[in-house]
Amino acid sequence: MERQEAKLRIQELRDELWENSRKYYVENAPTMSDYDFDRKMHELEALEAEWPEFQSPDSPTRKVGSDIDERSSSGGFVQRMHRYPMLSLANTYNLGDIEEFAQRTDRALEGQQYSYCCELKFDGTSISLTYLDGKLVQAVTRGDGEKGDDVTENVRQIGNIPAQLKGDFPHELEIRGEILMPYSSFDKLNELRELEDEAPFANPRNAASGSLKLQDPQEVGRRGLWCTLYHIPAQSIDESSLKEMGISGHSALLDKAASWGLPVSEHRTLCCNIADIEEYIRHWDTEREKLPYATDGIVIKINELDVQKTLGYTSKSPRWAVAYKFKAEQALTKVLSIDYQVGRTGAVTPVANLSPVPLSGTIVKRATLNNADQMGLLDIRVGDYVYVEKGGEIIPKITGVEFSRRPADSVKPEFPTLCPDCFTPLVKEDGEAKWFCPNQDGCPMQIKGRLLHFVSRKAMNILAGEATIEQLYEKGYVKTPADLYDLSMYQLLSLEGWKEKSASNFLESLRESINVPFDRVLFALGIRYVGETTAKAVARHFGDIDALAAASLEDLAAIRDVGEVIAGSIFNYMADGRHAIEIQRLRAKGLKFSMQDNGSQLSDALEGQTVVVSGNFSISRDDIKELIARHGGKNTGSISAKTSFLLAGTKPGPEKIKKCEELGVRIVSEREFWDMLPEEHSLGMQIPQDEPTLF
Ligand code: IVH
Repeated sequence: MERQEAKLRIQELRDELWENSRKYYVENAPTMSDYDFDRKMHELEALEAEWPEFQSPDSPTRKVGSDIDERSSSGGFVQRMHRYPMLSLANTYNLGDIEEFAQRTDRALEGQQYSYCCELKFDGTSISLTYLDGKLVQAVTRGDGEKGDDVTENVRQIGNIPAQLKGDFPHELEIRGEILMPYSSFDKLNELRELEDEAPFANPRNAASGSLKLQDPQEVGRRGLWCTLYHIPAQSIDESSLKEMGISGHSALLDKAASWGLPVSEHRTLCCNIADIEEYIRHWDTEREKLPYATDGIVIKINELDVQKTLGYTSKSPRWAVAYKFKAEQALTKVLSIDYQVGRTGAVTPVANLSPVPLSGTIVKRATLNNADQMGLLDIRVGDYVYVEKGGEIIPKITGVEFSRRPADSVKPEFPTLCPDCFTPLVKEDGEAKWFCPNQDGCPMQIKGRLLHFVSRKAMNILAGEATIEQLYEKGYVKTPADLYDLSMYQLLSLEGWKEKSASNFLESLRESINVPFDRVLFALGIRYVGETTAKAVARHFGDIDALAAASLEDLAAIRDVGEVIAGSIFNYMADGRHAIEIQRLRAKGLKFSMQDNGSQLSDALEGQTVVVSGNFSISRDDIKELIARHGGKNTGSISAKTSFLLAGTKPGPEKIKKCEELGVRIVSEREFWDMLPEEHSLGMQIPQDEPTLF
């Protein structure tokens, strides 16, 4: 793989993984299977190892996914710092990797004796409980691993979590585990939700995590949640107390916790070697179906606490544990028909409608086929029986066709040549896997799709869903996002089912959206390939839309994390007169098109200065650029006579230094840069460490 290609792929994977991580942990609605997520994470790890220059402390390979809703203050939970970080687990679907884990551990321990504790991997949402003098005083979600949401009042309603410990409990105890929703509670909850016309939860994990974040503790109590505890951070109990209790291993410590009345991880087994571990895996691969709650694998932990201490942690997971995950369950069902959906970018996606079939606790009725090539590869036909897979995720995947059951009269489906919505001939660009409808301005599905993206929660967060957009479009009131801001009360009240209250709530949310910061506005515009992360990087880099519109292709491609394809897409978008008019209209409505409008201006210390940043710094380059913008400066990608100075960290680009020397542009070191900023603002910046020593 070429350098540029690797850079683009790394960014694409990071965007996809962060996006799905948010969907998984915050929205409880992942769009990627666990298996694909893990596969992509491993691909990213391999690429980062091959191209160390693209490594970043912000990569999902280095940080755990966060369940904190950054965009909403309506989460309503106070956030608390964890005393000890709450980490994730390295995982694999491969027995060979477990053997490798055992060999690696052997090598690192040089003859030190140890055993393994095998446990179930419970599929819920993690929690950290604190007991003081035996009383439950705090329950915090994993959050981003460093801080989480305080859900103590909700946790008090969970039946098997004791409010008071018994026996010889320690003065202070922190214990961690999983909040689960047993299948029986899950089925009951979904039945109720369907009766009340609410969307059912896709799986017990989503239901558990959604329920734990409810605002009403009484309702949490009614949801039938359940807890299992599997980890006491060794540092939270001092060595002398452990000695006093005669405990040196993880499993014995959990037994002790059970004697204090705590519900600890069931079905633990101590294993001496890899054969025992494999036996445990084989047993639970099928036996787990009989359990009353969901599990998605097993966890293998080194049992001895002193050995765990020797092995320590990476920034993301303990070196003394690994998870073996079970492959997704499969079902066989019939293809009833195939639909072709047109997305906001014009991409046409085939979707199979299936004869409803139960799979991992849900009923599957539809599955995406991604694109024409994949349809061809699967050789799928209406009437075929197909294998559907789900790894605890929502959108199931068709993995194969049972050709022995193909009806004799079935015909190969023809991928449409015309847009199913506006009948414009479809086109396929070089290198694209998908067919596109090119009728950007006239295709109703695309227009509505763009509007829906614009109003969505992570974009402008306007109170409108599919039905509202449909109504507004059908009435001819709205075609582009700027039209939304021209809507009147009178127009809204003319829509079927709208009352003064709903209309004024909607108008209020439109007014509030004016305060959405520039990076999210940029994301809301729906520029192809510009996801949330890219939008943030671009907004931080240029500072405002004028600088972005004036940027050359080269300037754009020079931004870290933006490759040629994304740069081309932004450049073409900005060069299109229709978009310029739309941006002008949105701007006139007061939307934020500058980082400075975000209300985050710190000073005017760099007012009028055009800065190029190169090299590595004690904080991330993105943070440096944000500081420049927030102190009034402008970031650009390439050196010209207009550049005020080059901010050079360690290992700056030699080409840039040469150009500065040629043009007589000043070179400023990181130290000098800090001196340029008012003191109170240059301090307090968090200096990230590469592999923090955690304990
Ligand atoms: S031990 C320091 N044990 O799996 C890490 N985790 O995919 C301590 N999980 O974040 C975790 N069952 O939420 C551990 N028996 C078990 C588990 C378990 C489920 C979860 C946990 C973790 C996630 C990683």
